Amino acid sequence: AEIHSFRTSLLSWYDKSKRDLPWRRLVTTVSDLNKRAYSVWVSEIMLQQTQVATVIDYYNKWMQVWTDLSKATLEEVNEMWSGLGYYSRGRRLHEGAQKVVSEFKGEMPKSAEELQKLLPGVGRYTAGAVASIAFGQVTGVVDGNVIRVLSRTRGIGADSTSPAVTEALWLLANTLVDPARPGDFNQAMMELGATVCTPKAPLCPECPAQPHCRAYRRVANELEMASKKL
Ligand code: ADE
Repeated sequence: AEIHSFRTSLLSWYDKSKRDLPWRRLVTTVSDLNKRAYSVWVSEIMLQQTQVATVIDYYNKWMQVWTDLSKATLEEVNEMWSGLGYYSRGRRLHEGAQKVVSEFKGEMPKSAEELQKLLPGVGRYTAGAVASIAFGQVTGVVDGNVIRVLSRTRGIGADSTSPAVTEALWLLANTLVDPARPGDFNQAMMELGATVCTPKAPLCPECPAQPHCRAYRRVANELEMASKKL
């Protein structure tokens, strides 16, 4: 029941508060699954090391030429990527688009496992994001924002860079993800971390996860105890 209530609160908050971003719009308006997967792939790769505000223009430009990407030269790709930094991301996207066209007849791999195995530059996070957001596969994702949300809500103080803790967080994300709306659930977790459950001065009074949050409860208890001792 706890898990259901967490999912419901998070998703209704997301429905009401989510930012209107071009890749989100595309996912809801485009029915071609390959184009949808490609669009999520592009946005997630761009968002890995670049801020949302910067990504928007590049994303829109990139999506206009996507059908020809596999035919573009690396120079053209680099020029389009110019200003985003970390050029290997653009190069791998280009290689991946060529591979999808030449080896998979234009069909994107559909599961997180295959996406990670078959596409260059697609790691566990990007694979999970594409599989859940574009294809509705019930799989969780863990990025920096999700690590913070999970650590706080579940009261995990352990160092999240340790392999054992990382594994536990992935397991937790896979357990929590809403099977009815996996892509929205994952994006809601990231959105919460980016806008409410921020590293410093989190906006707990606005947080849909507050009733489920161990970090919040702990602080509230401490304050109550402190006031009783006066
Ligand atoms: N950061 C990276 N990808 C994101 C997404 N799809 N939604 C919210 N934040 C993100």
